Amino acid sequence: MFDFMNEKLSLGRFPTPIEPMKYGEKYGVNLFVKRDDLDEFIGSGNKVRKLEYLLYDAKKLSCDVVLSAGGVQSNHCRATAYFSKKLGMDVELFLFGESELQGNFLIDKLLGAKIHSITYEEYENVAEIMNKRATELESTGRRAYVIPPGGSSAVGFLGYAAAVHEISNWEKAHGKFDYIVCATGTAGTIAGLEIGRLLYNEEFKVIGVNVTKRSQEDFHKIMSEELVAFNAKYKTEIKELNPIVVDGYVGEGYAIPSQEDFEIIRDVASKDQLIFDPVYTAKAFKGIISMIKKSEIPQNSRILFIHTGGTFGLFAFANQLENFLI
Ligand SMILES: Cc1ncc(COP(=O)(O)O)c(C=O)c1O
Repeated sequence: MFDFMNEKLSLGRFPTPIEPMKYGEKYGVNLFVKRDDLDEFIGSGNKVRKLEYLLYDAKKLSCDVVLSAGGVQSNHCRATAYFSKKLGMDVELFLFGESELQGNFLIDKLLGAKIHSITYEEYENVAEIMNKRATELESTGRRAYVIPPGGSSAVGFLGYAAAVHEISNWEKAHGKFDYIVCATGTAGTIAGLEIGRLLYNEEFKVIGVNVTKRSQEDFHKIMSEELVAFNAKYKTEIKELNPIVVDGYVGEGYAIPSQEDFEIIRDVASKDQLIFDPVYTAKAFKGIISMIKKSEIPQNSRILFIHTGGTFGLFAFANQLENFLI
């Protein structure tokens, strides 16, 4: 198999710490957090791990411009813009939605990313749009590397497979986890965790809390399609990827936070001094608490929540948070 622990760039500060969370005490579980929000500053969050592989690939193919896509406050696009520029490549982002000049979008602009504003309908076919742009760039002598939304591809999956190596090492000194939980937006993180779980013979369950309007069936379909590419590329024979995807916590829609989400952000900041975001981490955390209350996650379980970042995105919601502060 491809030497996936070494054939990558080193963009983040790994291993990230694993810390206990006080918040778990009142629910009778042993709750820990993996601080992937600390893996970098401007690039921070779960995308760093994926980009270590994706941009390695881009460099290997001698690309000089990177294309990617997401919502206007995409954490993935901000991290992609940052690391691409840092590695001497230009970057073009295809962003849907509107935002004031704030959070991730502000950083994209500061970094000098070229922004293509697209509609949500266009975003549904964004692979086609980016491939067309790549061909256009290639006709002018450039070489483009196209990264799908969220960096979720066979190559991107390797990021969280490698994270399991860190988790396994930590467990040797501190004990095993029963559950690893994170937010699911494009499923690259849970797919990677599940691949890592299989490669390192781990027994924990991987749970992705869906924060989008897609369903668990959609994510399983996406993962099984990409697994075919993964097995072919890395000469593995993984039969299926079966992380648990839980629906029911997105609320009114993707990137639309509820009152409860804002309360979680406030309470976790005050109790555990962690900053969650209203699009991903707060909704995923709400999922954990609810699953414990419903006994879907049993008492005394050892749970590792992956803090996947998103901190800059919080600033785009500052006005809505005002009412929840003391
Ligand atoms: C902060 C944050 N957490 C979680 C996710 C979800 O990760 P994935 O897209 O790999 O499912 C994303 C991006 O989609 C994100 O930006």
